Amino acid sequence: MDLAELNRVANAMVAPGRGVLAADESSGTIKKRFEVIGVECTEDNRRDYRELLFRSKGMANISGVILYDETIRQKAKDGTPLVKLIEQAGTLPGIKVDKGIHALPFCPGEVVTEGLDGLRERLAEYRGLGAKFAKWRAVITIGAGIPTHACVNANAHALARYAALCQDEDIVPIVEPEVMMDGDHDIDRCAEVTEFALKLLYEQLYYAKVKLEGTVLKPNMVVAGKACAKQPSVAEVAEKTIRVLKECVPAAVPGIAFLSGGQSELDATARLDAMNKIGGLPWKLSFSYSRALQAAPQKAWAGKAENVEAAQNAFSHRAQMNSLASRGEWKPELEKAA
Ligand code: 13P
Repeated sequence: MDLAELNRVANAMVAPGRGVLAADESSGTIKKRFEVIGVECTEDNRRDYRELLFRSKGMANISGVILYDETIRQKAKDGTPLVKLIEQAGTLPGIKVDKGIHALPFCPGEVVTEGLDGLRERLAEYRGLGAKFAKWRAVITIGAGIPTHACVNANAHALARYAALCQDEDIVPIVEPEVMMDGDHDIDRCAEVTEFALKLLYEQLYYAKVKLEGTVLKPNMVVAGKACAKQPSVAEVAEKTIRVLKECVPAAVPGIAFLSGGQSELDATARLDAMNKIGGLPWKLSFSYSRALQAAPQKAWAGKAENVEAAQNAFSHRAQMNSLASRGEWKPELEKAA
C-alpha cells in the first residue's frame, strides 16, 4: 500500500471547488432514469449520455467520476475510451464495486450490501483500466424498530472489509453508509441513526486497519424523512449534519463528499453551501451527487442529438453551483441567472 499516493488521491477528490460526479447507475437504475425522459435504455444511448457529460465544460468542477462496470470499458463514438475523456478533463476515474443490496436474514425490512467475493481480483482489473478510487454503498433504512444493530454492524463490517481491500490494491475507498430519506421520521431521528451508522463504521474501519488518510466518506446529510410533515430549514440541516459529523468522523479523514439521496437539486446545493459557510471544520465538505447533478441534464437531453449542448450547459451549471457551495460561496441569485 502506498499511503502517500492514497492520501494524494483522496485530497484531490475533495480539492477546493471540486466534487465527485456519481455516474455509476447500474443498467437497471439508468433504465429508470431514462424512462422518465422517454429514452430507450440501449448501450449506445447510455454511452451517448455519459459521453456528453464527460465532454462538457462542467468537468472543470468535477474531481472524480464514479463509473459502472460497463462504462469503464466503453468507448466514445469516435473510439476514445470514456476513461481517457475523463482523464483529459483533469478528472479521476473511479468505479462502483459493490454488487448491490440483499435482504438480511431475520431482519425484516433491512438489507446488506454484498460483493466481497472476488473483490481483490476485480480491484486489480479496475486499477488496470484506470480507476483511482472505488465506491461501496450500504443502505440503512429507518422505520419502526429499525435499523437494528445487526444491520448497521453487518454493513459497517462489509464497508471495512471493502475499504481494506481497496487500500491494499492502492485504490482509495469511498465509504458510503446511506441512511435513507424514505419514511416519515423527523430530522432528530435521522441524526440519531446517522450517528449510530457512523460510530459503528469508524469502529469497523479501525478493526480492519484501514488508514483514514486514504479514504473519503460519502454520507447522507441529516434531514427529515420525505414523508415527514415537519421539514427542516437549510440552517437546521446544516447545523445538525455538522454536529453529527463532528461527533463521529476523525480529523484524519481528508474529505466528506455527500450523496444527494433524493433531495431537490437546490436543497442539495443550498445545504452544502450552508455547512461550508459555518466553516472551521477539520475535513473538506464537498459533493458526490448523482441525481442532484444529473436530473437537469437528463431532462434537457431527452435522448435527442440536437439537445446535447443544452444538456451540457445544464450539467455545467449544476457542477458550478455545487463547486461554489463546496467553498461556501453560493448565492441563490446565481440560480436565477441560469
Ligand atoms: P444520489 O446523489 O442520487 O443519492 O446518488 C449518489 C450515489 O452515488 C448513491 O450511491
